[in-house]
Amino acid sequence: MNDKNNKGVSMNNLVVKIEMSGNRYNAWSADGTKYTSEISNSTRKGAFQNGMALERRTGKNGRTYWWKVPMDVFEASSKPSVPDMSSVDIPTDHAEVLNFIHNSYSLKPQGLMMNELKWKYLVRSGVRGKNIMMTGPAGCGKTMAAKSLVNSLDRPDFYFNLGATQDPRATLIGNVHFEKKSGTYFSESLFVKAIQTPNAVILLDELSRAHPDAWNILMTVLDYGQRYLRLDEQDGQATIKVAEGVTFVATANIGNEYTSTRVMDKALMDRFTIVEMDVLNESEEFTLLEYMFPHVDLSVLGSVAKIASLTRNESKSDTARIGSGISTRTTVELAGLLFDGFSLPEAAEVSIYPQYDDAGGVDSERTFVKQIVQKFCDDGSSDDLFNEEEIHEATEA
Ligand SMILES: Nc1ncnc2c1ncn2[C@@H]1O[C@H](COP(=O)(O)OP(=O)(O)OP(=O)(O)O)[C@@H](O)[C@H]1O
Ligand SMILES: [Mg+2]
Repeated sequence: MNDKNNKGVSMNNLVVKIEMSGNRYNAWSADGTKYTSEISNSTRKGAFQNGMALERRTGKNGRTYWWKVPMDVFEASSKPSVPDMSSVDIPTDHAEVLNFIHNSYSLKPQGLMMNELKWKYLVRSGVRGKNIMMTGPAGCGKTMAAKSLVNSLDRPDFYFNLGATQDPRATLIGNVHFEKKSGTYFSESLFVKAIQTPNAVILLDELSRAHPDAWNILMTVLDYGQRYLRLDEQDGQATIKVAEGVTFVATANIGNEYTSTRVMDKALMDRFTIVEMDVLNESEEFTLLEYMFPHVDLSVLGSVAKIASLTRNESKSDTARIGSGISTRTTVELAGLLFDGFSLPEAAEVSIYPQYDDAGGVDSERTFVKQIVQKFCDDGSSDDLFNEEEIHEATEA
């Protein structure tokens, strides 16, 4: 009577398809809801390996179980209810997602200084498949945070440095090659492979420094309503769809001192959720340096943190005499020099001063920064960095 093939089967039974992501077998229904946690790993794996879908059925004892069915059944289940991709945040396994986001601070590497709210916002944007743009001045940890997010998500990941590429078309689309025997052929880029990988996390580093051609190519890729890459602009037909669940994480230096940063198109910016990286304050800077260099004299590290914060505050003031403060990248480098036995004046001379313009003599940015550093170098020793003679020479120049 209770024939297992018929019992519980109705048009309304839920059917899921198994997709592999990294070493995980995820179960997705046609409307994009994830059921992985309801189905045992071996069942999911078995279905995947046999190219079968799984149907949720209820046995006579009222217990639900998942039964292998041909893939057609899944395809059919996706027809009647057209998935509405415009509806935001379908709470799929909502409890699971909430739990992940709110426990995610433990996934942040200790060596990355970022406040808890910002980190959670970053993780949440990643989990929800938003296009994320990390912004902030140079050397404040944008790339580091983006990479840490990628590591935390346990999804296939790809890295592209768009600031370093001269040929955006080759990087994002591919190259046409010519061979005597076979004639011309097209070899697609790694990016093409990346966007076709379901649930991939794709890092677009230094997007603000990319060639405008790269921005144009990415426009349709990043648009939630389009999500495709056009391979050939002339022919208008060859497009590649961005796979389900792909997340883009970009970094940008916005509104800072870098002249190499091009002004990004507003339309491109609009395609992103912005996560602003905060510049560290003095005590955060000190905590970071102390954590990274426990063997360096704490009072000297304290001076480094103070110098950095003084320059940062100055650069923000209305009457700023310098265009930018010392970045965390620079304080970390400087502390590394201290660790290797350089004195503070020596370390500052090689790591800080070259970043500041010395045009203008005593009024130069470099002179100003030297004066700040020097306040922390007066340790009774006679390496007077900044004597009157030097000022005099600087004025003459
Ligand atoms: N918030 C931070 N926490 C920990 N380390 C940091 C932080 N910010 C910067 N650093 C240090 O500075 C280095 C450079 O950081 P990162 O490359 O992430 O900067 P960025 O913001 O991407 O800079 P750019 O704008 O030049 O690309 C890191 O390797 C790390 O040592
Ligand atoms: Mg960077």
